[in-house]
Amino acid sequence: MNDEAASRKDDHVRLAAAQQDAGPRRNGFDDVAFVHHALGGIDADHVSLGVEVAGRRWPFPLYANAMTGGTDRTTRLNLDLAVAARETGLPLATGSMSIALDDPDRMVGFRRIREENPDGFLLANIGVERSPDDARRAVDALRADALQVHLNSVQETVMPEGSRAFSGWDASLAAIVEAAEVPVIVKEVGFGLSARTLARLGELGVSAADVSGTGGTDFVRIENARRPGRDYAELIGWGQSTVECLLDLPSRPPALLASGGVRSPLDVTRALALGAQAVGVSGSFLAVLIDEGADGMVRRVREWTERLTELFALLGAATAADLTATDLIIRGATAEYCRARDIDITTFARRSSGTRAGEEHRAR
Ligand SMILES: Cc1cc2nc3c(=O)[nH]c(=O)nc-3n(C[C@H](O)[C@H](O)[C@H](O)COP(=O)(O)O)c2cc1C
Repeated sequence: MNDEAASRKDDHVRLAAAQQDAGPRRNGFDDVAFVHHALGGIDADHVSLGVEVAGRRWPFPLYANAMTGGTDRTTRLNLDLAVAARETGLPLATGSMSIALDDPDRMVGFRRIREENPDGFLLANIGVERSPDDARRAVDALRADALQVHLNSVQETVMPEGSRAFSGWDASLAAIVEAAEVPVIVKEVGFGLSARTLARLGELGVSAADVSGTGGTDFVRIENARRPGRDYAELIGWGQSTVECLLDLPSRPPALLASGGVRSPLDVTRALALGAQAVGVSGSFLAVLIDEGADGMVRRVREWTERLTELFALLGAATAADLTATDLIIRGATAEYCRARDIDITTFARRSSGTRAGEEHRAR
């Protein structure tokens, strides 16, 4: 059973990395354009990238999202990530710790992430079907600052050895949230969180929800490639894009994080402008890690944070929160989704007219 889990972890990394080989694909982020205001910029020196997430200050609105752990190969990847996180301040989530909860010898590799990065913000990760006691063990092993709980029913459906019993998930999540001693962040794994799901997460009192939508790593393709018959291809494309999720919100959503298909600092900026507090990246960071190791990741994080500062200045945003008053045009398939769900996208196109920057500009 545990060998099966171990070979699955290695398969996931190999197949997810192969998805990156083709280079960045078009996705929902391409449907989001900023209206350019040629006199609207500010000085890069006045930009502050820091954000508040799960009760703590992050140096920038970016994190390495859950990927892996539990085998020799995946532990090496996590340790490179941990070194890069220590050098840059990048908040870091481990992959699912279920493999080590079932086989405690495998916990060593997870503990080493904390040893490499003693002061960084670390998120433990478990599946929603785990018990509150498992959640506590995962958090304790990492001395984690927060707990990610993943919802992955599409992946389980396509996974040859996956679960097909989802009716207990709501109660299981409620029990984990109730018992947790650190902030709980609920996430998808690349199929998106709907408005209905987000409303329920708000009721449960989760600290944040990471919508993790389509557009990047595709676990239907990954699990389908692990099936001899590859017979679940018809599910490719299931789910909502990250951008659609950020636009399709209930009246009282939890704090939002975004991931799924983030390819560039511009995508990070778009997600922040759509209301995410911070933005998670898996697939495109995995490619850097595999090709260039910890040094490459350090370079990537520094490049991205520098570029974020430049984009904020160009858009006249001193902080990530200011981006939510930028003017956005929503086009293409995302606009069609919004029409079908009765979401008014015209309000996004004129958001700056109500702000001080917008008023001052019009008064000139
Ligand atoms: C190799 C790999 C393994 C992953 N394993 C996990 C996991 O164990 N737990 C989890 O919550 N998400 C996992 N994910 C999903 C990511 O956290 C993320 O939600 C998804 O990949 C979408 O982001 P991306 O397009 O930036 O890759 C994994 C992603 C990759 C690439």
